[in-house]
Amino acid sequence: MYKCVDDRDLQFFYQVVGGAHVLTDQEALQRYGHDETEDLLFLPQVVLKPEKAQQISEILKYCTTHRIAVTPRGAGTGLSGGALPVFGGVVLATERLNRILLIDERNHQVITEPGVITEVLQETVKQKGLFYPPDPASRGSCFIGGNVAENSGGPRAVKYGVVKDYVLNLEVVLPTGEIIWTGANVLKNATGYNLTQLLVGSEGTLGVVTKIVLRLLPHPQHDLLMLVAFRTAEQACQAVNAIFLEGIIPSAAEFMEQEALQLSQRYVQSSLQLDSQCEAFLLFEVDGNHPDLLFAEMERISAIVERFEAGQMLLAETADQKATLWKLRRSIGEAVRRYSVYKEEDTVVPRAELPALFRGVKQLGKQYGFRTVCYGHAGDGNLHVNILKEDLSQEQWENILPQAIRSLFELCVQLGGTLSGEHGIGWVQKPYLMVAFNDAQMTIMKKIKKAFDPAGILNPGKIFD
Ligand code: LAC
Ligand code: ZN
Repeated sequence: MYKCVDDRDLQFFYQVVGGAHVLTDQEALQRYGHDETEDLLFLPQVVLKPEKAQQISEILKYCTTHRIAVTPRGAGTGLSGGALPVFGGVVLATERLNRILLIDERNHQVITEPGVITEVLQETVKQKGLFYPPDPASRGSCFIGGNVAENSGGPRAVKYGVVKDYVLNLEVVLPTGEIIWTGANVLKNATGYNLTQLLVGSEGTLGVVTKIVLRLLPHPQHDLLMLVAFRTAEQACQAVNAIFLEGIIPSAAEFMEQEALQLSQRYVQSSLQLDSQCEAFLLFEVDGNHPDLLFAEMERISAIVERFEAGQMLLAETADQKATLWKLRRSIGEAVRRYSVYKEEDTVVPRAELPALFRGVKQLGKQYGFRTVCYGHAGDGNLHVNILKEDLSQEQWENILPQAIRSLFELCVQLGGTLSGEHGIGWVQKPYLMVAFNDAQMTIMKKIKKAFDPAGILNPGKIFD
């Protein structure tokens, strides 16, 4: 097991990062003991706030030698418990590595530290006419480093891809203390194993990322946003696929069950008048540089959704209306969290299987006796399934949940999908990993972990044991 942090260890940490950046008070331990995953809390023994890769190197080397558990942490907005210090020990907070180091306008790249808020990064490059598309719902508070660790997505992934599609190169501190670059600042790279992509989505278990090189795009000049109501949720899911089959790629195609949108409306106190007869909504965005083409594209989308019994269609006329619609969409997660004890799953299937996944989710609800609220990135086949506890007793909840989640993941895999699209496995999905992988796959992953982290000190207990 892991060694507890004692006074001698604290002395060493003081020397490395300075007394002001070594926190041991109860309030801090509480604050760094949870993320946004349900109501889970694991207290670390100490929180360290280094400012440089070199300091992280010294900390990790020391913790490897003394077998002290280290949990790296960004902004703590994760939804799979990736930043929870489940073995106590050290929380390594990256919040002081918060500088955008270089915007390389000539090459459309940015070099940033991990503790920069994603939206700040997006707005900063936008001032130069550049675009960093991945936009998780928490972009106003999450860190780019956490996004790299979890390979985050968000609504725009459907057209622009997820974090992995933008990361060119990473500076990483290995658990043994070496500092390496994983690749090069180039768009193409066929040189050796792709360590960059191995690190992206590794959930802080292989190394601590200290510099990130991202590719950027020219920022699109215009976008249109439209909310469409559907009589049935299944028809909404079917309509999404039809749009792609007609050759249209919206920059967002978001699915919301009626109740998801209602909870969000109540939470953000919106007065938007919505069709209450409809089971579900789709939020479509198209973007580009030619407004005429965008209007034509929206018209084609409107014509296609008509075939699926679409009702009310609401085209946002102003920037304010767009902001309101996006706020409603982005607040659903938080709104559900306030409504009931819940368990969120981040299911993903090939896009055309989304109607089957949705149907299966509702059948499981009937079978096990719970309600679900679903929403997510329909264009990616990525459905956030929120299982609600509501009036179930604690005993019922604890009995049915593991079986129900297993059945849900089995369904995802049967449909050609997998367990998580963008939130990661972390701590809470770990018991189900074998639904997606067999022994040979697990063995190879464990060997990779061992090669990076021989003492097993870095983010222990995550993804697999
Ligand atoms: C969202 C987060 C939960 O899509 O991924 O709102
Ligand atoms: Zn999402």
